[in-house]
Amino acid sequence: MSEPLVLGIETSCDETGVGLVRGRTLLFDAIASSVDQHARFGGVVPEVASRAHLEAMVPTVERACREAGVSLDDVDAVSVTAGPGLAGALLVGVAAAKALALGLGVPLYGVNHLAAHVAVDVVEHGPLPEPTMGLLVSGGHSNLLLVPDVTHDIRSLGATIDDAAGEAFDKVARVLGLPFPGGPHIDRVAREGDKVAIDFPRGLTSGRDMQRHRFDYSFSGLKTAVARWVQACADAGEPVPVADVAASFQEAVVDVLTRKAVLACAEHGVEDLLIGGGVAANSRLRALAQERCDAAGVRLRVPRPGLCTDNGAMVAALGAQMVMRGRPPSGLDLPADSSQPVEQVRS
Ligand code: KG4
Ligand code: ZN
Repeated sequence: MSEPLVLGIETSCDETGVGLVRGRTLLFDAIASSVDQHARFGGVVPEVASRAHLEAMVPTVERACREAGVSLDDVDAVSVTAGPGLAGALLVGVAAAKALALGLGVPLYGVNHLAAHVAVDVVEHGPLPEPTMGLLVSGGHSNLLLVPDVTHDIRSLGATIDDAAGEAFDKVARVLGLPFPGGPHIDRVAREGDKVAIDFPRGLTSGRDMQRHRFDYSFSGLKTAVARWVQACADAGEPVPVADVAASFQEAVVDVLTRKAVLACAEHGVEDLLIGGGVAANSRLRALAQERCDAAGVRLRVPRPGLCTDNGAMVAALGAQMVMRGRPPSGLDLPADSSQPVEQVRS
């Protein structure tokens, strides 16, 4: 089977994603998001997300097939996010994928969500160089990954030790009175601000931290520093310079993200850096990453924004690569694992 048609299901957070990929060609990527239902809580509510996945699953599978112009009978394999993510949300996707695979009589691949964020770029920029360095930044994760083979060999170089990058964007946006999810709002407001107006802390970059946490991230101290700074303004009865705070905060995040990612490329002899996850949509992150990659002789790959945020195409893309490389499928007893380690690419 040279060009397998794979249906991928993603339900690890608040997006019900169903993608159809043939080989390395994306046929259609259907998304139903419950983000609006979480907005008033300022974060994703797991039970609400699970219920929304349940309601969206069948219509989203049907829409993906219709728009892709394929019938379920044409599908050669089903791929699904087995973890990490919200337990109840994952279970809905895994149960649906098992039912489809069993009903269609095709193999089932339970795959790692983080690996899928890396694998998706093949549908846009072609085969992944081996190895590739992956920087994944979203509301749920901030990871630096060395990827010799996305279908079965991924090594974690570092991760956040507290808040994820997107989580920091969302919390700081809240402090600044911007809506949820805050990342895109900070990105927009920051364009009018001065990124060197306030010297916010760069977490885990001091000499000692660079020994113990060389490729780890920390954004919780930065978030607290912003909150204190804003509070001090209020206490002094001064208006908060929202654009300057947003720009300076954003600069602190993307400075550390890109600095450590490019350093990891240099130290591991990797010439290609791929950035994925929702925060990869950030305009300043893209610009600074490009600048630093150019200076270091590293090629930068960033999928288009719709493929950076959670989606089903990424799961289908990884499943298709597993089929093409002859990797063994999962069993029908496949568990959903909310804390699946990144090294476990397939369950
Ligand atoms: O990958 P994603 O859709 O979902 C997961 O969290 O897995 O990422 C969502 C995160 C949110 O925290 C959102 O604020 C952030 O990505 N985000 C951004 C931007 N667009 C989305 N952060 C900074 N700048 C952006 N332009
Ligand atoms: Zn994600």
